[in-house]
Formats: sequence, C-alpha cells, structure tokens
Amino acid sequence: MSSRVCALSDLEIDEPKRFVVDDVAVALVRTEEGVFAISDTCSHANVPLSQGEVEDCRIECWLHGSMFDLRTGEPSGLPATKPVPVYPVTLDGDDVLVSVDVALNEAS
Ligand code: FES
Repeated sequence: MSSRVCALSDLEIDEPKRFVVDDVAVALVRTEEGVFAISDTCSHANVPLSQGEVEDCRIECWLHGSMFDLRTGEPSGLPATKPVPVYPVTLDGDDVLVSVDVALNEAS
C-alpha cells in the first residue's frame, strides 16, 4: 500500500527530508532524475542518511562518507559494504506516494 508522504513542491532538489512511513524511516530525495525513497538508516551504523549531502543521485553518509546510490541502495565505497533498502515512489499530480511494503532491491 502506498501512503501519501508530502507534496512534490515540498521537496527541494537534492535536499533530503526524513519521513516516517508505516513505521519505517525513509529519506526522501528529489533529484533531476526523479524522486527516491531510501531507508534513513545507514547500513554501516545507526546513522540517518537524511542528514547527508546528495550529489549525482547518491546520498552520502555524513559519519564515515560512504555514498549510497538512490536508485539501487548500493554503497560505492567503504566502510559500508551492504546496500540500504530503497522503496518505490509514485507521483500522483503533486502528491508523493511511498510504499514500504517491499524494497525494490530486496531480492538481492
Ligand atoms: S555510519 Fe554510515 S558509513 Fe559509517
């Protein structure tokens, strides 16, 4: 089930925002490529990714600097080695909907 999280106009390009969707904390990021929802917990330690910087469709963990691809959740460098769940985002007019039922990268 998708839940309305915010309006598209609430999101600035490359400025992550934290939302809790059905008890799951997600960092929602609007980029030039679209809107992405990634789990708001780094896979290396319990650090919110929404406080990091976004560049080239990747979000940086502010603590140790691993960069996670917003499309796949994969880290591009150490110290994180595991992906972070990414969730499907749907746009309905100006509404941004997120479903946390199944992560897009859960099968891997
Ligand atoms: S806590 Fe995120 S890379 Fe270490």
